[in-house]
Amino acid sequence: MDSRLLRVLEHPLLAVHVSALRAVETEADAFRRHLTAIARLMAYPVLADLPVEGYALTTPLAGATGHRLAQVPVLVPVLRAGLGMVEAFLDLVPDAVVSHLGLYRDHVTKEPVRYYTNFPQGLMSHPVLLLDPMLATGGSAVDALTLLKQEGARDLRLVNVIAAPEGIRRVSAEHPDVTIYAAAVDERLNDEAYIVPGLGDAGDRQFGTLP
Ligand code: PRP
Ligand code: URA
Repeated sequence: MDSRLLRVLEHPLLAVHVSALRAVETEADAFRRHLTAIARLMAYPVLADLPVEGYALTTPLAGATGHRLAQVPVLVPVLRAGLGMVEAFLDLVPDAVVSHLGLYRDHVTKEPVRYYTNFPQGLMSHPVLLLDPMLATGGSAVDALTLLKQEGARDLRLVNVIAAPEGIRRVSAEHPDVTIYAAAVDERLNDEAYIVPGLGDAGDRQFGTLP
């Protein structure tokens, strides 16, 4: 898949944990653990270019120059499935702001329906990370990115575990300034707009609400 703004992250442990997410026999508790491990592995490259600033500190022996983030990131998990990616990012950046966005994909139209937002003031000056394990048609991500831009966000990154070519194309077309990070790019969508081979419904598998 050729997109200038797509970064498919490669790491042997990502491949191992993504395989476990895909497997139909993986239960919700294991699914959550694997998703956390994936998010932790993805956080390093996603956050690699965060600007830092120097400050003066004192060790037990001498003065030294420390480094701190110039701006803390804002994490925006898309409810429900994005919740499982928050803890790993917070482990690395404990003072990140978490700003929830409630969206679900209507079962019939496949279009996103918003039901909850909680954004802080001043999004413009912070890196904003949209967290969602699945990028399928791209409808949810496009809607979320549009909303975040309306709220002032400028430095936006989309962090997905599994992305479909259709969703990558749609996000790249409508938000060409946003880098998409993914651990895997799958073949296609099926007639129900599920990613194939994918992992099924990420929210249901993570929270045990399978029909
Ligand atoms: C899933 C997923 C994305 C969306 C992707 O959420 O977590 O938000 O579908 O599909 P799209 O790219 O076609 O928009 P879902 O609607 O199943 O909500 P849930 O996590 O609350 O079950
Ligand atoms: N949402 C999911 O959770 N899985 C898919 O395959 C598509 C949308």
